[in-house]
Amino acid sequence: MIKRSLVLGLAFLSTIGFAQQLTTNTGTPVGDNQNSKTIGNNGQVLLEDIHLIEKLAAFDRERIPERVVHARGAGAFGEFVAAADFSDVTMADFLSTAGKKTPLFLRFSTVTHQAGSPETYRDPRGFAVKFYTEQGNYDLVGNNLPVFFIRDAIKFPDMVHAFKPSPLTNGASDPNRVFDFFSNIPESTHMLTWLFSDYGTPANYREMVGNGVHAYKWVNAKGEVTYVKYHFKPHQGERNLTTEEASQIQANSIEHATLDLHNEIAKGNFPKWDLYVQMLKREDFDKLDFNPVDVTKIWPESVAKMVKVGTMTLNENPSNYFQQVEQAAFSPATLVPGIEPSEDKLLQGRLFSYFDTQRHRLTGNFQQIPVNAAKNKVTTHNSDGYMSIREQKGDVNYQPSTNAPAIVDNAKFKYSKSVFPAGTTTVQGKIDKENNFAQAGDLYKSFSKKDQDNLIKNLSGALNAVKNKVIVHKMIAHFYQANTEYGTRLMKATNTSMNDVKQYLPK
Ligand code: HEM
Repeated sequence: MIKRSLVLGLAFLSTIGFAQQLTTNTGTPVGDNQNSKTIGNNGQVLLEDIHLIEKLAAFDRERIPERVVHARGAGAFGEFVAAADFSDVTMADFLSTAGKKTPLFLRFSTVTHQAGSPETYRDPRGFAVKFYTEQGNYDLVGNNLPVFFIRDAIKFPDMVHAFKPSPLTNGASDPNRVFDFFSNIPESTHMLTWLFSDYGTPANYREMVGNGVHAYKWVNAKGEVTYVKYHFKPHQGERNLTTEEASQIQANSIEHATLDLHNEIAKGNFPKWDLYVQMLKREDFDKLDFNPVDVTKIWPESVAKMVKVGTMTLNENPSNYFQQVEQAAFSPATLVPGIEPSEDKLLQGRLFSYFDTQRHRLTGNFQQIPVNAAKNKVTTHNSDGYMSIREQKGDVNYQPSTNAPAIVDNAKFKYSKSVFPAGTTTVQGKIDKENNFAQAGDLYKSFSKKDQDNLIKNLSGALNAVKNKVIVHKMIAHFYQANTEYGTRLMKATNTSMNDVKQYLPK
């Protein structure tokens, strides 16, 4: 009997070689994957061809909504090694011991355009890291550029509409629409100066910095707060493209950055970044002429020095792009004890937006998808819903309980540990110390002659495409207030006179 089944087994293997048996979704072996079941050789296809129906139905559902922004991306797994014990400033467990290793997943992205768009476009680049810490996941969802266009989340949908395709023409990044919006947003001057310099076209994802952009709060076990800004600096160095270099790459490839990352990791050439923080105390805020929780500002190193926190290495390519990169879900609200959001008005809006879009994009149980799931044990009473697969045992899925008091909260991790001295009334208005232009001027001055020239060329090129000259005059008034040479050079390059601009300058 044994001999017979061995012979049959060998005969079966010889028909399919050493390939694996194809199955249906329920594991049933498939007999023919090339011909559907029909009435005679020339007749209709039968609904009882269950494999055919399942195959078409699976294909029909392959696409899910792409991310509303940052749709084009590439990712990799890796690890973070802490440089020191930071427990005097944060309870964050993954920063509690020098040498402590934390596994991570990182996704780089472009921002504005759809998933199939070229990776050479002028655009900020996303730099999102998911640390799988022993006290839950921590997401640091940053960009390559160190500041942002707007400082209030209420403006974000309008800004993205201005960048995205016109509802009339379906043309994207139309300077007529983009600058129509920004000519009314003076705080965008700093970010636009970064974006239209060659920093707006980084060479690839490996030779690029990452910034947390916002201020966050680190909180220690005593509840003491230190404000921090994060910066990732690449061991590979930093490299940008000129507009001409970007166009040349684009003529041959729309995914050069994705393939560069994949190929270098596959070769064993693992990219690395050092993570630094700058630290400020709330008492320091009054001494500054800008608001440190304003996302349109950097913290100059003369104000807060860089402190090395650790090193990140990317050492493993995803084994399945859709499952691990497309389904990855990052959020600035994925925080661990010891790291809290600052009062930054833009960040506060982000705390809602990411989980909300992910519940729509990936269903309510998106945190159970393996790339998003915490590596420590998740013990929550949140339950059910589509695709609920997390192990949940027992009768008691509520708290408080006398029958099974095993899963409980712990006052050690209360939000109220760090207190914010509010003592004021509610308002709807501007932040204090807007200071919209000074840092844009400092940035212009800090650029090399070549970087300044490229900035003027790129920016005036885009402004020259704007039909309504009032928009151009208002834009140049912003750049002129940042730095008179910067504004004057733009006037020359756009054939604009001081008279045109003057009326938009403060009296
Ligand atoms: C992705 C909203 C500002 C960095 C996203 C997504 C949304 C969003 C809805 C798609 C998320 C998903 O489908 O998983 C917002 C809002 C903002 C804002 C409402 C302002 C109020 C920022 C800022 C940064 C940033 C300031 C950088 C510091 C990113 C990154 C991603 C992303 C890196 C892609 C994450 C990934 O790789 O999956 N944003 N965003 N966003 N955002 Fe923002």
